[in-house]
Amino acid sequence: MEKRFYGTTAEGLAVEEYTLTNPAGMEVKIITYGGIITSIRVPDRSGLVANVTLGFSNLRDYETKSPYFGCITGRYANRIAGGRFSIDGVEYTLALNNGPNALHGGLRGFDKRVWAAKPVSGADGEGVELSYLSPDGEEGYPGNLSVTVRYTVTADNALRIDYAASTDKPTVVNLTNHAYFNLGGEGTGTTYGHILKLNADTYTPVDANMIPTGELAPVAGTPLDFRLPRLIGPGCRSNHEQIVRGKGYDHNFVLNRPSPEDWALVLAARLYHPASGRIMEAWTTEPGVQFYGGNFLDGSIYGASGRAYRQGDGLCLETQHYPDSPNQPGFPSTLLRPGEAYRTTTVYKFMTD
Ligand code: GLA
Repeated sequence: MEKRFYGTTAEGLAVEEYTLTNPAGMEVKIITYGGIITSIRVPDRSGLVANVTLGFSNLRDYETKSPYFGCITGRYANRIAGGRFSIDGVEYTLALNNGPNALHGGLRGFDKRVWAAKPVSGADGEGVELSYLSPDGEEGYPGNLSVTVRYTVTADNALRIDYAASTDKPTVVNLTNHAYFNLGGEGTGTTYGHILKLNADTYTPVDANMIPTGELAPVAGTPLDFRLPRLIGPGCRSNHEQIVRGKGYDHNFVLNRPSPEDWALVLAARLYHPASGRIMEAWTTEPGVQFYGGNFLDGSIYGASGRAYRQGDGLCLETQHYPDSPNQPGFPSTLLRPGEAYRTTTVYKFMTD
């Protein structure tokens, strides 16, 4: 475990970078600004190591132009319709930062906060625990929310993320990490040649504003059918209404579970890059995963190695509760009450063919 000074925010706060490694040659870098994963280096089938996550080379870019690269996303990852929700008859109003919706925790969500950090290396591997106290009313959300996010690099080339939170007033919480992956290496072009398998028979279709209709629709017979491994490229430009609305893949998949109340780790996704032989599995305790294909990358930003990021150059597998759950009584609840413990875990595991 290594720790170094990374930079100073525009407001003058010091940001540190932690480097976590394991004996198998995996290396992950995390900064205390946004809890951002800035680099994930893993070997390909011939042992060649590359950074497989999109990011920048400096703090200023993260502060000013990041499309949520690698960050802790909250309090509420994904969209809340109209930026409104009610708890116990009290309505709360959030800033609208995505057309008519609130997205990813607001104007200044968890991705734009400097987190406290402490090393927590142990038997599981090298780790760092980040913590943040989000004050009552921050970005419109009720309750003082105490959050910890622990990143661990394990011996078997996995990055494990453990999220925990507690509150002193009823609130809503939906935490994820927004890392963009490209198993061919950051800055090497599109992910269209990746093959994806998702453990989901259904997904939550969206309206024209990207808000779930409330229905759980079967993926069968649509470009969203990833039950068997499927090449990503062709579906991205399908004329299927959902793909048109998302400008590609930008959908929440409902993860299959052995039983509805079983929230153990389940395999959510398996991503395969045939050219390098790299494989990534995403395991999670969450009910859903947002597969976002990097549709809004438009070539205007340049990544860590100085190359432009264009549409599809990275993809996200954001493990989460479903979008707009606070307004969807039929979805698994995102409500957190005082005395309750919010705990979720997601594991990104890397291997080769
Ligand atoms: C999520 C959303 C996308 C987009 C990205 C950030 O994945 O679903 O629509 O907002 O975040 O660019």
